[in-house]
Amino acid sequence: MKQETIKVEQISSCIRTREINTHFVEELIKSIKTNSYKAAFPLSVIPAGEGFKLFNGNHRLAAIRKLGIKEVSVIIQEPADDDQLMKRAYEENRASETALPMTFLDDAENVTKLSKQGKTLSEIAELLDIDLSEVSRLRGIMGLPEEALNLIKNSFETKYKKLQENDSKSFQEDFETFQTVDWQLGWFQSILPLSPANQIFIVKRILEEKGKLRGGRLIQECKKLREYERLTQILEECLNPAVQNREQIISEISADIYKGIYSEDYLRQRIDALNRKAQNRLDCGDCLSIIPTYSDKSIDIVLTDPPYGQSFVSNRRVVNNEVTVPIVNDTPEEAFALLDKMCGGIKPKLKDNAFIYIFCSIKTLFQTVQITSKHFGAVATVLIWDKLNKGSGDLDIWGESYEMIVFHKIGNRRVNNRLDNVIRGIPRLAHSDFHPAEKPVELMEYILKNSGSSNDTVCDPFMGVGAVPIAAQKLGWNYYGVELVDKYFKITKRRMGI
Ligand SMILES: C[S@@+](CC[C@H](N)C(=O)[O-])C[C@H]1O[C@@H](n2cnc3c(N)ncnc32)[C@H](O)[C@@H]1O
Repeated sequence: MKQETIKVEQISSCIRTREINTHFVEELIKSIKTNSYKAAFPLSVIPAGEGFKLFNGNHRLAAIRKLGIKEVSVIIQEPADDDQLMKRAYEENRASETALPMTFLDDAENVTKLSKQGKTLSEIAELLDIDLSEVSRLRGIMGLPEEALNLIKNSFETKYKKLQENDSKSFQEDFETFQTVDWQLGWFQSILPLSPANQIFIVKRILEEKGKLRGGRLIQECKKLREYERLTQILEECLNPAVQNREQIISEISADIYKGIYSEDYLRQRIDALNRKAQNRLDCGDCLSIIPTYSDKSIDIVLTDPPYGQSFVSNRRVVNNEVTVPIVNDTPEEAFALLDKMCGGIKPKLKDNAFIYIFCSIKTLFQTVQITSKHFGAVATVLIWDKLNKGSGDLDIWGESYEMIVFHKIGNRRVNNRLDNVIRGIPRLAHSDFHPAEKPVELMEYILKNSGSSNDTVCDPFMGVGAVPIAAQKLGWNYYGVELVDKYFKITKRRMGI
C-alpha cells in the first residue's frame, strides 16, 4: 500500500458500492473550491492494466472530474478481485467519518447485485460483514414495488439536501427541524410481508407522518394490514362469482374489514349467506327449457303444484277478476305431457337423496302416479291436504275438501318427524288476489319443515305466484322457481321483495 499522486485520467474504471448522490457531489465541489482537495482523504485504487481502478471515493472522483482537476493523491493498494475490493470499500467506508454514510438502501442494492451474480446469502453476509438475517431482509427491500423504493430513496436524498441547506452540525437537530424520516432497516420486518399495494401504502403513511409511525405503532398497523389482506383474500376466493354486484359487495365488505368489524367467523358466515342467495333462481319461462340450465344433482326437494289437467277456471268471487282466467297448459293432454317431460328433465338435477312432492286432485291421481312412478319409482305415500273447506265444483256430488300430494322418496332421505300423512289445520285461501290456484305459503312451509334443513335447495317448476319460493325464503332455504306467465312471475318477485 503506497500513497502517490497520479493523473485523474489514469483512473479508468470503478467499483461502485452505491449510486452517485448529486447533491453530495455539489457539496464536495463547494468544499474543494474553498478548502482545496485534501490529500488527507486520498482515493483508494488498485493498478489495472495501464491505469488504475477506483474502489472507494466515487463521489470525490466525480467532483474532481467536474472541477477539471488533473492530478490527485491516491492510495494504491494490492490488486484484488472485485469481491475483495467491495469488501475493502465497505471496510473503509465504515472506518471513515464520511459525511454521507452508506444507507441500508446501498446495502440492499449490493446484496441484490451479489445475489444475482449467484452468491449465496451466507457468502454475501461474509463478504459485506452483515448479519445473515439482515442480508435476507436487505434482499427483500429491493423486492419492494418501484414506487415504494423511489419514495424511500427520495426521502434519503431530501434528508441529505436539507441537511446541507441548513448547514448544521448535529443530525438530531436537523432531523427535528425538518422532520425527515430516519428510516430503520428493522421496520421492514413488518413491512416486507405486506402485499405490494400495502407496502406502498405504509411507506406513504410513514412519510406523511414524518417518521412518527414507527416502533409498536408501525408493528400494529402492519399487523392490521396483514389481517386485512388475509380476510380480503378469503372474501375474494370464497365469494361465488354468481353473486350479484359482486365487485361492489367486495369493496363494501373490504372497507368494513379494514375498520376491524369482521372476525374470520363472521366473514365466513356473511360469505355463506351471500353465496346461498346467489344460488337462488327465479326464472320466467317454460320450465322445460329452464330445468336443463340447472346444475346436475343440485336439488334436494321438488315441491310443485302443476297444472292439473282439469281445464280449471275458478268461479270464486275475487277482488281481482283476473283470477278467473284459465291456467296455462291445463287441458288433460297438455298437462300430463308437460308433467311427464318435467319429471324426465328434473331427474338428473336431483341429489342422490331427494324428495318429490307433486300436487294433484283425486280426479288426476291415477294419471299423475302413472307418470311420476315411471320416473321416480314406486310412490312412497300420498299426502292428503284437508283444505277444511269445499272448493267450487260439481254441485250434485260430494264436495271436494282435500287435495292430494304424490310423494316419492329417492335414496336414503328421511323426513324430520314421522307426521301424519293427512295435513290438517291449514285452510285453503278464502280468496286470492293473484292466481286462480294459489296455495297457502303456510302449507308449503309445513311440508318443507318436515323434509329437510336450511342447507337444502327446493325447486318448484310451476310456481304460479310463488307459494314455494316464498316459503323457502321465509325458512332461509335455497330455491329454484319457474313460471311461464310473466304477470305471475312479477307478482312472485314483488311478494318476495326482489
Ligand atoms: C297450479 S298453478 C301453480 C299455483 C301455485 N302453486 C301458487 O300458489 O301460485 C300452475 C302454474 O304453472 C304455470 N305453468 C304452466 N305451464 C308452465 C310451463 N311450461 N313452465 C312453467 N310454468 C308453467 C301456470 O301458468 C300456473 O301458474
